[in-house]
Amino acid sequence: MSTLSTTLPGGSWALGDLTVTRFGYGAMQLAGPGVMGPPADHDGALAVLREAVDLGITHIDTSGAYGPQVTNQLIREALHPYPEQLHVATKVGATRDAQGGWPTAREPADVRRQVHGDLETLGLEVLDLVDLRLGDAAGTRPGSLAAAFETLVELQQQGLIRHLGVSNATAEQVAEARSIAPIVCVQNMYNLAARTDDELIDALATDGIAYVPFFPLGGFTPLQSSALSAVATRLDATPMSVALAWLLQRSPNVLLIPGTSSTAHLRENVAGAGLQLSAEDLAELDAIGR
Ligand SMILES: NC(=O)c1ccc[n+]([C@@H]2O[C@H](COP(=O)([O-])OP(=O)(O)OC[C@H]3O[C@@H](n4cnc5c(N)ncnc54)[C@H](OP(=O)(O)O)[C@@H]3O)[C@@H](O)[C@H]2O)c1
Repeated sequence: MSTLSTTLPGGSWALGDLTVTRFGYGAMQLAGPGVMGPPADHDGALAVLREAVDLGITHIDTSGAYGPQVTNQLIREALHPYPEQLHVATKVGATRDAQGGWPTAREPADVRRQVHGDLETLGLEVLDLVDLRLGDAAGTRPGSLAAAFETLVELQQQGLIRHLGVSNATAEQVAEARSIAPIVCVQNMYNLAARTDDELIDALATDGIAYVPFFPLGGFTPLQSSALSAVATRLDATPMSVALAWLLQRSPNVLLIPGTSSTAHLRENVAGAGLQLSAEDLAELDAIGR
């Protein structure tokens, strides 16, 4: 297993044999409006990615569906050849239509095409981590993942993927995936106000599987809560810092991938996530999503 010494808040976590900083970066916000097309500020987007690596972040989340292909290409332009310790996670299972929608694409041929597309756009021979993204833009949907997940396993056996995960998945789908092959992470929507996965997080922690919350800061609708603001004011911190610190303290298997298109916000988030929350703070924050 690779080792990693980091001063980033939260320390590190082992995704299978890959060690990553628990403070990572989600690249989705680097694409244009509606996650379609190029960013308004191309050089600014490259600067954010380089700043992430300079700060010591070793886990970047992306998908061929972002742009489409835009964030993958930006990551390659900014960071290739990649530092040895950097691990880029991608997701397959959705594509984009001309209206900016996210139609599902999980037939075996779709999955193969997306994996080969990610390898090409990222300039890699092996993808470190690929999540099968389930459900749709509105949330999780029940149903078997077997055909799509078995295709990823086949690609893994061919040496094109190191580790597998699932995303936007129900607990039943997580269990089904695990009955087919080992997974190293689940990437689902979760934050201070969206707590559906509380039990799942604890169960995955017991089994050493990472939980990667997407929309950790509320996504397209920033987290807003009077309790969050009150705790932030008391600690002389921003609500974003408190929301990230809460996630890091929620469970050791939680990995952060907050998104931002601003180097200033990225630095602010890294600096703020190490905030120590007291039992009183945690109790107040816990009440938000319950
Ligand atoms: N698996 C899935 O289905 C799925 C779905 C959605 C997202 N994801 C992944 O999860 C990652 C995180 O989600 P996300 O980026 O959509 O949402 P997020 O991390 O919850 O929030 C990002 C938003 O917060 C703002 N922000 C960040 N730091 C800030 C700060 N310090 N002050 C003020 N505003 C701040 C950003 O605006 P600025 O750009 O102005 O900083 C951006 O609008 C994505 O990048 C993507 O990789 C996965």
